[in-house]
Amino acid sequence: MNTNIEETKRQYEYIDKLKSIVKDKSKKIGRELTYNVTTFGCQMNARDSEKLRGILNTIGYIESEDENADFVIYNTCTVRENANNKVYGRLGVLYSYKKKNPNMIIALCGCMMQEDVVIQKIKESYNFVDLIFGTHNIFKFPELLYNVIDSNDQIIDIWEDTTQIVEKLPTSRKYSFKSGINIMFGCNNFCSYCIVPYVRGRERSRKPEEIIEEIKTLSEDGVKEIMLLGQNVNSYGKGLDEDINFAKLLSEINDIDSIKRIRFMTSHPKDLSDELIDVMASSDKICDHLHLPLQSGSTEILSKMNRHYTKEDYLSLVDRIRAKITDIALTTDIIVGFPGETEEDFEETLDVVRKVGFDSAFTFIYSKRTGTPAASMENQISDDVIKDRFDRLLELVQKMGRERYDRRVGKTYDVLVENVNEKDASLLSGRMSNNAIVHFPGDEKLIGEIVNVSIKECKGFYYIGEMYE
Ligand code: 5AD
Ligand code: SF4
Repeated sequence: MNTNIEETKRQYEYIDKLKSIVKDKSKKIGRELTYNVTTFGCQMNARDSEKLRGILNTIGYIESEDENADFVIYNTCTVRENANNKVYGRLGVLYSYKKKNPNMIIALCGCMMQEDVVIQKIKESYNFVDLIFGTHNIFKFPELLYNVIDSNDQIIDIWEDTTQIVEKLPTSRKYSFKSGINIMFGCNNFCSYCIVPYVRGRERSRKPEEIIEEIKTLSEDGVKEIMLLGQNVNSYGKGLDEDINFAKLLSEINDIDSIKRIRFMTSHPKDLSDELIDVMASSDKICDHLHLPLQSGSTEILSKMNRHYTKEDYLSLVDRIRAKITDIALTTDIIVGFPGETEEDFEETLDVVRKVGFDSAFTFIYSKRTGTPAASMENQISDDVIKDRFDRLLELVQKMGRERYDRRVGKTYDVLVENVNEKDASLLSGRMSNNAIVHFPGDEKLIGEIVNVSIKECKGFYYIGEMYE
């Protein structure tokens, strides 16, 4: 693996150049330059957007609430087709802003840009887009932005893959008290429906010392809760020279005093070790929540999905986890309508949902992604069959989730206060270790603190509570 310090330096040189360009420009037009970043998709993209914001803030742009700004960037997702359609739809609106503000720079980045067909379409139909880059070279953002301003031409820079990890560029966090941290990039699993390995490249882990250093710096800056991010965190460490795996990394992070809560996502069931379960069980800081994508409850479909576990493997893993961490919240992802899914296969999925009792589940309609093995499989399922299954699954998921949520009423939990409730300013909103949201009366000075809250009422998928002083 290649941690590239020279590259970090180079990008800081561009940041310096951009600072003076932005200063001159705002002087000329008599106001500060504004930017807006829109994030589509997952937590990895959310974290990447914090990096974009960090750079834009450093060079002197001011964040704007709306997209009628001087620099607008969409950090895109392509995991399902409708994510792509949303971006095309919104580009039309951006064009109308750009016609009124000739200085406006429009940029696109993220997973969708790693697809050739997308680049083709943008070149043909959206030539007003100024800058396009992908997932592998996001660290080059300062250089690319400089080039756009300098050349006034459309710049497209997409890399096929990379082995580089460029550290220590600026970031701007959404919350002062919690932060995501990439521990690895890419994915080697090639689930047959999934486009991620093609657009995010091969798996590469960051060095443990870089991760620990970043977490220590964050904690000095007031961060109490961290979320370790990767497409498959359970295979962390493969390919590194150090003797490290995910369970060991967690133990090391657990030893950092000022970090009070540790979360992570996503876990692949095939790689979740007993060592990890033990580390989770023995730590007070590692949250009682595991996102464990099931995808399907049918062993046959799982095999076609290339998931490397059976229905029974999944259920026995859940038993092993619950035996050691009784109150853990399990959440999951499920795909409905994978090619060849029969009614019996679907009922196996319902059976797992019933047996496990997930706290919540993201349910997705299978989306055909060009280039993935599943796209050319026979027996694609018709829309009306999928819709019927999707509705039945959702109903069961909600019923089971509600039952799990109800069980906690009357108990007391540690809650990290996140914000003042958006609808009722007398209430604070926070998250329990199991990731559930609770609203309770309190003073906004408590934002960022961990407080004790007794759960009074369950409102479906959130709670109303009362704080203990
Ligand atoms: N269609 C539907 N859902 C998908 N996911 C990934 N690829 C597809 C697809 N082609 C879902 C999986 C994954 C989540 C992030 O997105 O459930 O866990
Ligand atoms: Fe996609 Fe599977 Fe990798 Fe998750 S583990 S990103 S579903 S290929």
